[in-house]
Amino acid sequence: MQKITELDQKSPIAEAYRTIRTNISFSDVDNEIQTILFTSTKQNEGKSTVISNVAYSFSKLENCRVLLMDLDLRNPTVHKMFGVSNTYGLMDNLKNDRPIEKCIHKIEENIHVLPTGSMPPNPTEILSSKKMASFLREIKGKYDYVFIDTPPVGVVSDATIISKNVDGVMYVVGANETDLSHAQVAIENLRKADANILGSVLNKYAMNQSSYAYYSYYYNQDECTGRATRKKKKKFGLFRKKKLSSVR
Ligand SMILES: Nc1ncnc2c1ncn2[C@@H]1O[C@H](COP(=O)(O)OP(=O)(O)O)[C@@H](O)[C@H]1O
Ligand SMILES: [Mg+2]
Repeated sequence: MQKITELDQKSPIAEAYRTIRTNISFSDVDNEIQTILFTSTKQNEGKSTVISNVAYSFSKLENCRVLLMDLDLRNPTVHKMFGVSNTYGLMDNLKNDRPIEKCIHKIEENIHVLPTGSMPPNPTEILSSKKMASFLREIKGKYDYVFIDTPPVGVVSDATIISKNVDGVMYVVGANETDLSHAQVAIENLRKADANILGSVLNKYAMNQSSYAYYSYYYNQDECTGRATRKKKKKFGLFRKKKLSSVR
């Protein structure tokens, strides 16, 4: 598996993640959005992949400290995305008082990863505990953004439970993978729980070749001359309104 940190930051994929980053930053201008949960209707739509890349993208902003937390207690994978161990994590802090600094992996200066750690037999109880709520409140003070990976909301209630204690929710939709009516029901359930749904990410969306052409053209120009002229950007479609939050 390619590590998130190895993604070429000039690739079209990294560019798509930066677009998602911008959209999240402007998604709720009235409230400060610091803790953001990602979920989806079912497994394999790309939640862990998308959240890891988005978190990494935020960490590239100047002085932006980011924590990526894995709260998918059923199928934790965030640690694999960054090539770190899951021997200790949040559960060891909540259950056995292991100091949190000894559970967090510092990947780079501004991106830290907190894996789940030892798997609990009772995930729902832990997620709805007061200890978890107070942990989420406290950790906000230590980072600019906290991203939280969760299980699919269409399968278990974990994400709905956590949504009460975060500032916003992002919904990942795997193109051609989710039944629209299932996604609608799942989103409606989140809304009923008063979740602040910031937006959705269309993942695994097949972009056509021409879309790639103008992205690469832009970067070629950027590298050679330090800038792409407005005329060239216009010619190659950079001012065209395009589907913003999609990742291939
Ligand atoms: N945009 C994408 N294009 C191709 N494969 C993807 C994409 N996003 C995720 N995947 C792959 O899909 C599988 C499931 O992704 P994952 O992030 O683990 O999903 P989830 O966390 O929703 O279960 C993984 O093998 C991952 O590499
Ligand atoms: Mg996952």
